[in-house]
Amino acid sequence: MIIAIDGPSAAGKGTLARRLAAALDFAFLDTGLIYRAVGAKVLARGLAPADGAAAAREAADLRSQDLERADLRAEPVSQAASEVAAHREVRAALLAFQRRFAAAPPGGKAGAVLDGRDIGTVVCPDAEVKVFLTASVEARAERRSKELRERGEEAIYPRVLQEMQDRDTRDSGRAAAPLKPADDAIVLDTTEMDSDAVFETVLAVAQARLSGD
Ligand code: CDP
Repeated sequence: MIIAIDGPSAAGKGTLARRLAAALDFAFLDTGLIYRAVGAKVLARGLAPADGAAAAREAADLRSQDLERADLRAEPVSQAASEVAAHREVRAALLAFQRRFAAAPPGGKAGAVLDGRDIGTVVCPDAEVKVFLTASVEARAERRSKELRERGEEAIYPRVLQEMQDRDTRDSGRAAAPLKPADDAIVLDTTEMDSDAVFETVLAVAQARLSGD
């Protein structure tokens, strides 16, 4: 079984995906990390994220240890990730890895949970469960600011909000696999919903599908 969780930044995808994977004993892939790793490598080499050919070379050359870089959550890397993610050739280079993970989850697990922007629409259009998580940009910027502060980083709310709006605009407006709900996705607005309620809702759907409903 494949569970696809898509949505904009800080909508709660990671928390939900992790809890579902633990509850169902499924493998979990945070696909944002892959784009972050490509963005980080491009920046580290002094290349421009706008250079699609250079970014695609880094994507084709991605190793598993690149997903463990310490700088993947830094703000410049977030922006670079969303810039490299807009190149069709970068997305194409990363597609096979994501599909392999979904089709044959590591550790022989019976299913996989993938979170990202285009899992239900492009990477796994046949996923049995598709969820699109969203929330107001203000709520998401609040959550991200809190997360940053908890990690001991500086977080100036207006700046976090601006950066989030920039990334939303780029992710939704790009021609290649733009951020949007799949036609058959369950859309959950988490602005007023706590993470337990989101988890219980999606777990119930997944369990119903698993039992052949
Ligand atoms: O953690 P956050 O939700 O802020 O971002 P992320 O999921 O780590 O993704 C970082 C960037 O990678 C996004 O802004 C997207 O531009 C890109 N991305 C994508 O294009 N497709 C995916 N499946 C996952 C991420």
